Amino acid sequence: MEKREKFGTRLGFILVSAGCAVGLGNVWKFPYICGQNGGAAFIGLYLICLAVLGLPILICEFSVGRASGHSVARAFHDLEPKNTNWHRFGWFGIIGNYLLMMFYTMVAGWMLNYAVRMLFGKLSGLDSDQIAGAFTNMLGSPLEMGIYMVIAVMLAFGICSLGLQNGVERITKIMMLLLICLMVILAVHSLMLPNMQEGLKFYLVPDFDKIADIGFGNVLFAAMTHAFFTLSVGMGSMEIFGSYLDKSRSLTGEALNVVALDTFVALMAGIIIIPACFAYGVEPDAGPQLLFITLPNVFNHMAGGRVWGTAFFIFMSFAALSTVIAVFENILSMTMEVFGWNRKRAVSRNIVGVIVLSLPAVLGYNVLSGVQPIGVGSTIMDLEDFLVSYNILPLGSLLFVLFCTKKNGWGWENFLKEANTGTGIRYPAFIKPYIRFGVPLLIVIIYLKGYYDMFSPYETKTLVFWMCIAAAFLVLIFSFSTSKRKKTR
Ligand code: ALA
Repeated sequence: MEKREKFGTRLGFILVSAGCAVGLGNVWKFPYICGQNGGAAFIGLYLICLAVLGLPILICEFSVGRASGHSVARAFHDLEPKNTNWHRFGWFGIIGNYLLMMFYTMVAGWMLNYAVRMLFGKLSGLDSDQIAGAFTNMLGSPLEMGIYMVIAVMLAFGICSLGLQNGVERITKIMMLLLICLMVILAVHSLMLPNMQEGLKFYLVPDFDKIADIGFGNVLFAAMTHAFFTLSVGMGSMEIFGSYLDKSRSLTGEALNVVALDTFVALMAGIIIIPACFAYGVEPDAGPQLLFITLPNVFNHMAGGRVWGTAFFIFMSFAALSTVIAVFENILSMTMEVFGWNRKRAVSRNIVGVIVLSLPAVLGYNVLSGVQPIGVGSTIMDLEDFLVSYNILPLGSLLFVLFCTKKNGWGWENFLKEANTGTGIRYPAFIKPYIRFGVPLLIVIIYLKGYYDMFSPYETKTLVFWMCIAAAFLVLIFSFSTSKRKKTR
């Protein structure tokens, strides 16, 4: 087996981990979820969720990664006490990473497609119906979507094939720095648009009546689920970067840097998008189509819109690709550890594998549009997103927290020692009861509420059936964490 590389620099670690976190969640989902959930009031709750849920779970992932020196596929084998079942979670992590990529590569392809369209002026001069038609036509063409998905996959695996330092670290560093520059330029431009005050007010001044209208529980739920998604926690995507890290810095400070950068990008994406919507009289609550229908319309009305539109979709493509590269690095590392492949072989096999696995999402918008797996009008991508966002991320996060806090897991003492190794901010040990009991309880509530919201529009027996399935998964997770034997190391 190949010698395991480490990051070359601290900045490399921070930017690659932040690159994994910064993605479609920040630049696509965040602005529209924010628009749909009342703007500023949602942001406040979201920041709280990041601090009380996302951050502690991220520190757990980094600690498990650094202590084991392996990907999630092998980390639990290394750290679990004898005769326990935690290692089975390895499969859960592997499935989660592939599932995320099964739709993420397609949407990354949409971003690349729109960057090219903007660059060549393909959307210039179109009226709103034609812009909507262009998006629908793209969704209707398996070939066009397939080609861009394949480009995204080849590009990202191509970078990973160069190795951790030479490929992933070097290229992600450049891409993230460019992303930050582009983002600042776009945000400044957005703040100079006419009528932008309206947008800023919506974005920054909380309106608690709106929360009451939407329902506090719903807004909180949206904020919590998004906190998991944006940090990519719960399936080991971040764990891997802990495993490439040396012991010089404590992990709380490093995780704080990553969360801060991720949050900064999300907030800036909102500043770029929301004032632009208000400046051109468009509501920012259009949902997923905000980026592909609403915004091209906005660019068409803007002076120099083609340039701004191109810059905007390049920014979006960088954000998407930084996550794809990071998750591919995970997939490579996992398959190298499990099957003993070298990097070259892992790349060539995974290119084929990921392309094939991404096809259902692509075909779900055209050839397989009759397959509506989670309700009328839903797509295969919706199912994959549901499995990842509402199942794998919260359940995996639950597992990480239980593993790091339970005596018959890795245990609090080991976790704390690893998190605090090196210089920098210490982990506040006194919050143990909250991490041990509070975080799991919150996760269970979020998880069950997700299922309830999803299936409550259906008849009672369907709802009961799915709630039982959700409960069964919880039982399974808790069963991972039970062992009759006492901890042996
Ligand atoms: N963390 C990644 C994102 O926000 C999955 O898109």
